[in-house]
Amino acid sequence: VYDASSFVPAHADLAALRKAAAGCHGCPLYRDATRTVFGEGDASARIVLLGEQPGDQEDRQGRPFVGPAGKLLGRALDDAGIDPAVGYVTNAVKHFKFSVAPRGKRRIHKPPNLREMAACRPWLAAELDLLDPQVVVALGATAGKALLGSSFRVTKQRGVLMPMPDLGRGGGGGDGHRGEAPDDPACGLVATIHPSAVLRADDDEREKVYQGLVSDLKVAARELT
Ligand code: URA
Ligand code: SF4
Repeated sequence: VYDASSFVPAHADLAALRKAAAGCHGCPLYRDATRTVFGEGDASARIVLLGEQPGDQEDRQGRPFVGPAGKLLGRALDDAGIDPAVGYVTNAVKHFKFSVAPRGKRRIHKPPNLREMAACRPWLAAELDLLDPQVVVALGATAGKALLGSSFRVTKQRGVLMPMPDLGRGGGGGDGHRGEAPDDPACGLVATIHPSAVLRADDDEREKVYQGLVSDLKVAARELT
């Protein structure tokens, strides 16, 4: 089975985790991607923004949310009154999954499957354990499923404050179902759409979709002291 846990060092700080994650072979995604894209931000961050996986630009630059979706996320955080400097950004899966367009070089994003999400969860669990944030924002379906299990639905669960399951350092169950996990009473969870959904929206819908993202982020902002 795919599993990153044997690559995750015990008693590590974020810098040591990042270093170890660079050599992770916990699932096959490391083979085609350029590099591991680990989370980034202040160790004392009170809000964690959880995306799906690095995109093309992130894979090239080795940093999360540096491409178009990241720029839009930065603007939305600003509009929601959240200083991006107090945040830590990371992804449910830390290698870029893609297919190459026929007769081209363009790399087309493919969503990670539940096995890859489960394999990578120990990195996320270790990050969250060290960060101990006040609120986690799940950006899109993959992030939500990584935290709440495969029954998560953005459309049903977005924009409300939920309890954050305690992933523990072990990383939880193997199939994405985490119903048995205890909640972390000190941390809230708010789910919303992925910022790339705004970029993909039709021209006449885009502003409305964007405002929906901002309004969900405001729910998370209320948890910050
Ligand atoms: N989309 C994500 O989910 N994460 C990134 O880091 C970039 C784009
Ligand atoms: Fe390891 Fe996650 Fe990369 Fe898979 S996607 S190789 S589990 S870091």
